[in-house]
Amino acid sequence: MTQFASIAGTGSYLPAQVLTNHDLAQQVDTSDEWIRTRTGIVQRHIAAEGETTCDLAEQAACRALQAAGRSAADIDLILVATTTADQIFPSTACLLQQRLGSYGCAAFDLQAACSGFIYALSVADKFIRSGSHQSVLVVGADTFSRVIDWQDRATCVLFGDGAGAVILQASSEPGVRDVRLHADGRYAELLQVPGGISQGIHLPDYAGPVGTTQMKGNEVFKLAVTTLQAMVGDILAANGLQQSDIDWFVPHQANIRIIQAIAKRLQLPMAQVVTTIAQHGNTSAASIPLALDTAVRDGRIQRGQNLLFEAFGGGFAWGSALLTY
Ligand code: UT7
Repeated sequence: MTQFASIAGTGSYLPAQVLTNHDLAQQVDTSDEWIRTRTGIVQRHIAAEGETTCDLAEQAACRALQAAGRSAADIDLILVATTTADQIFPSTACLLQQRLGSYGCAAFDLQAACSGFIYALSVADKFIRSGSHQSVLVVGADTFSRVIDWQDRATCVLFGDGAGAVILQASSEPGVRDVRLHADGRYAELLQVPGGISQGIHLPDYAGPVGTTQMKGNEVFKLAVTTLQAMVGDILAANGLQQSDIDWFVPHQANIRIIQAIAKRLQLPMAQVVTTIAQHGNTSAASIPLALDTAVRDGRIQRGQNLLFEAFGGGFAWGSALLTY
């Protein structure tokens, strides 16, 4: 009998400190009006000094475990999707395991920038479908504020910090119906944090800034819209579903104009789209599980409903998922 991965519980966490558009307008040449109309963002949360990605992940994971009625001892795999790991190693997943006390189970990080959660969801789904694992904790967590140049108005207004988590449980019913992953490394330079471990943080052949997010926003925007519009159509067709079969669209929260363009392609009213971008900004790998948990907890998403996820980000890496909650 096929074993599916179904969502047993969700959780999320946002750091306490809020940074509004008005606050940013005091620091760089921007305005609340520009940020709202171009992106849909009103505010974002920023991790406190010393507060790390693992700290955010721990809170989100504990809330997801509680919602699922599980303890850490029930978990047999921990996956953390992040671009902003606490340390070079151990992985944030191992650091998180230490906090949760679920010693002995497998734990690893996965990096696919803003698409990290969908990539991790796909891995978890395959572990569960194979029968090798029963209960998987999937966390998307990022402290993107740590890789932002706070003097660069083109990027600093876009991102925020946060974490979201789901407990995926083996079940005879779906659950996760399909996950589709894609990447095209030819676009690496359009969205990147130059510098790193093996290249070194100082790049002799690169004149631009290192260690902070560099984005050709307009080019990313256009490619994101066309790629995502095609992808959501593909995943529905491949599963024999119509737009009308989707109860909730839970997209990556990068720009409200991108989300509106995809919803239009799906002919879905915005009332069926979960948007948290106004309050959270772009939280990278945390963005989808944060939005999911928000709509589960406020009662919009109900058991038995069909959900569509999509994400697009650095790499480029992108993906989509169809689930029944
Ligand atoms: O999650 C990963 C994937 N990321 C994305 O999907 C992000 C995709 N890109 C975007 O969301 C949009 O491209 C942005 C929001 C980043 C920018 O919006 P845009 O409508 O594409 O603006 P633009 O980059 O074409 O810039 C328009 C103008 C420029 O001024 P000039 O050259 O026309 O005089 C910018 O200098 O807006 C200016 N600008 C700003 N003005 C006020 C750029 N950033 C700001 C700012 N405040 N923060």
